[in-house]
Amino acid sequence: MKQYDLIVIGGGPGGYEAAAIAAKHGKSVALIEKNLLGGTCLNRGCVPTKCLCAAAERILDIQSAADYGVQIENYSINYAVAARRAHLIVEGLREDVEAMLKDVEIFQGKARIAEGRTVVTDTHFLKGHKIIIATGSKPAQIPIEGSEYVINSDEFLALENLPDRLIIIGGGVIGLEFASIISAYGKDVTVLEYCPEILPGFDQEIAKRLRTYLTRRGIRIVTGAKVTSVSSERVVSYEAKGKVFTLPADMVISAIGRRPVTPDGMENAGVETDSKGYIIVNDAFETTANGIYAIGDVNGRCMLAHAASAQARIVCGLTTHVGVTPSVVFTMPECASVGACVADCEDYQSAKVPFSSNAKALAAGKGDGLLKLVYRNDDHRLLGCQAVGAHAGELIAVTAMAIDAGCTIDQIAAESILAHPGFSEIIQAAASRGLER
Ligand code: FAD
Ligand code: NAI
Repeated sequence: MKQYDLIVIGGGPGGYEAAAIAAKHGKSVALIEKNLLGGTCLNRGCVPTKCLCAAAERILDIQSAADYGVQIENYSINYAVAARRAHLIVEGLREDVEAMLKDVEIFQGKARIAEGRTVVTDTHFLKGHKIIIATGSKPAQIPIEGSEYVINSDEFLALENLPDRLIIIGGGVIGLEFASIISAYGKDVTVLEYCPEILPGFDQEIAKRLRTYLTRRGIRIVTGAKVTSVSSERVVSYEAKGKVFTLPADMVISAIGRRPVTPDGMENAGVETDSKGYIIVNDAFETTANGIYAIGDVNGRCMLAHAASAQARIVCGLTTHVGVTPSVVFTMPECASVGACVADCEDYQSAKVPFSSNAKALAAGKGDGLLKLVYRNDDHRLLGCQAVGAHAGELIAVTAMAIDAGCTIDQIAAESILAHPGFSEIIQAAASRGLER
């Protein structure tokens, strides 16, 4: 039985980051991966989706080119080319992950945990001073009649061609990113969302605005829709406002959330899970078993790639706390959120500015958008930012740093100097508006 300082189970953004950091600090590290290095994010998540988003953005740019005096008479769009491009980018980035792990001993196979901080695969017994479980998550199955006629995000991202009519069940992050891509290819797409508004976890005013923009792009969005069945002909039945509707499609995609993937044998090792199956951890990401940690999607704290990597840095001792974690929905336009929402506490208030008042946004033809700063009533400390509009994800990155640095809206309004004309001036305009109150 080989002994290591650290054994990592899972080679996604949580696992590979932890393994690489530990190896860089001179630890002996083993990483076990049952599938492809890079995990969900690289192979079936963030990266292929963003490659397809980029292709969709090109199409939308071409379609609006005439507004800028650019006539494009003949163009064709080919989803298969975009899908193959995504595949090549993923392969290239996977080589980068392999290079990052050059000092880590990698084992291919499905790991299970045995007593005494031992990890077992079909062919190996490994013993670790410390174990990190970073086994991620998988798509939730929709519990309805005809679920076998519904595909999930893994299967969607493996497609080489898009059919003409698609229905997406779930108006969350995946459902909306997919709808935004599919619609750019001229396909008929309907999103059926169970809750009264899309993106239930987001600021609802921002989510509503996004819904308006996506609807204007031709995406049909039905909220308050309870899907009851899918037939073998891909006819979806759903209930909304007390009535029953049916909608035909060529393909039905489910994007209703994700479930944790945990290694076998955890119970014997004393690792406990909550009622939804997520591994219970403390603030240091240690599980209920001494020396066994769980990071990333599998602990359900924040199911984002950068959150998994941040948790890896904590477990490896590089830092002691997770800062505010931004979340970006890469629709066209983007929607983004960091920190508190105004609805979180009555001591908070918000100041908002539409993108249509920003010179750069108008020049770029991106006047659709709204940015909100959330700050504390008494000392004006910045606590959150929500935005929908072009580059919303980059804008909230700036505010995330300001929140972590403890900035007030007074400082942002009076002391920061931002290049003109720039989208970032929207942040300063919102801070100034807050001070006008
Ligand atoms: P994973 O990336 O899921 O990696 C876990 C790894 O563990 C897998 O490779 C798996 O094969 C392996 N494994 C599991 N069990 C075992 C076992 N018993 N033995 C050995 N290996 C095992 N997040 C963002 O931040 N930005 C985005 O834009 C974004 N887009 C997304 C788009 C889609 C379509 C999806 C599905 C997700 C997206 N996410 C995004 C979420 C992101 O992919 C996850 O939050 C992230 O991958 C979690 O990382 P992880 O390391 O916890 O787990
Ligand atoms: P989600 O939790 O974001 O959204 C699921 C949606 O489906 C919710 O709006 C929910 O109300 C709805 N829903 C649930 N059951 C339903 C039903 N039976 N009928 C109709 N609607 C139903 O989950 P999603 O979109 O699957 O994504 C999973 C996770 O992956 C995200 O929470 C996020 O953490 C991560 N992700 C992150 C991305 C990013 O950062 N850009 C992109 C894609 C995924």
